[in-house]
Amino acid sequence: MMRRKLAAGNWKMNGLSTDLAELDRLITRHAAPAVDLLLCPPATLLAAASARLGNHPLLIGGQDCHAAASGAHTGDISASMLADAGARAVILGHSERRQDHEETDQMVRAKARAAHAAGLTTVICLGESLDEREAANTLDIIGGQLSASVPDNSTGENLVIAYEPIWAIGSGLTPTLDQIGEVHDFIRTRLERRFGAGVGRSARLLYGGSVKPENAAEIFTISNVDGALVGGASLTADDFSAIITAL
Ligand code: G3H
Repeated sequence: MMRRKLAAGNWKMNGLSTDLAELDRLITRHAAPAVDLLLCPPATLLAAASARLGNHPLLIGGQDCHAAASGAHTGDISASMLADAGARAVILGHSERRQDHEETDQMVRAKARAAHAAGLTTVICLGESLDEREAANTLDIIGGQLSASVPDNSTGENLVIAYEPIWAIGSGLTPTLDQIGEVHDFIRTRLERRFGAGVGRSARLLYGGSVKPENAAEIFTISNVDGALVGGASLTADDFSAIITAL
């Protein structure tokens, strides 16, 4: 099964309209990319970012959505609103949202169901804390998050899983290549068991957590790593471009 590689950038709560110059530089440098590209700027920049793409295949994505289609939810954004602003994908269940907004697996699953209904690809994030890794609970934690966060209506096209150890995010620390491989193989096996070989082998698995130009190439050699979800190093076209090239 040939899965298209995917380089995804998450700007988190960074970026003003002037920073879209980095997007311009990125799409100029990768005019005909050999891999899929996704950039998730803050919601305030979604429409402007989408408008700058022209015919470029890079996809724009959101960083969260509400589970409801519309209604009295001040400050929230629905999946169809993201799509209306030009988004084709959405990151869900990032550990920063699980921590800052007390998002549970059940909430992530409901959001993912709504996102799929709106035609968005979901990048569903899973990851263990340092305590959980040191207690040798990583696979239990990942298995639990995977089964509870991923909705039944997932397909090989609309489901991307990002494995992001919480302790590796923004820290400069990364798991060993064997540790990343172990978790990715585990996720692949679990997806195949639950959804069958078709969906299980087509869904893409990204690694996230301190991916940089310096370590990207070796991370991309790991089996079942289909790309990366990149935070800090996606903020500049130079760094993100180097990671895309390594893929
Ligand atoms: O969504 C991205 C991840 O949280 C990784 O962030 O590349 O800054 O470590 P980072």
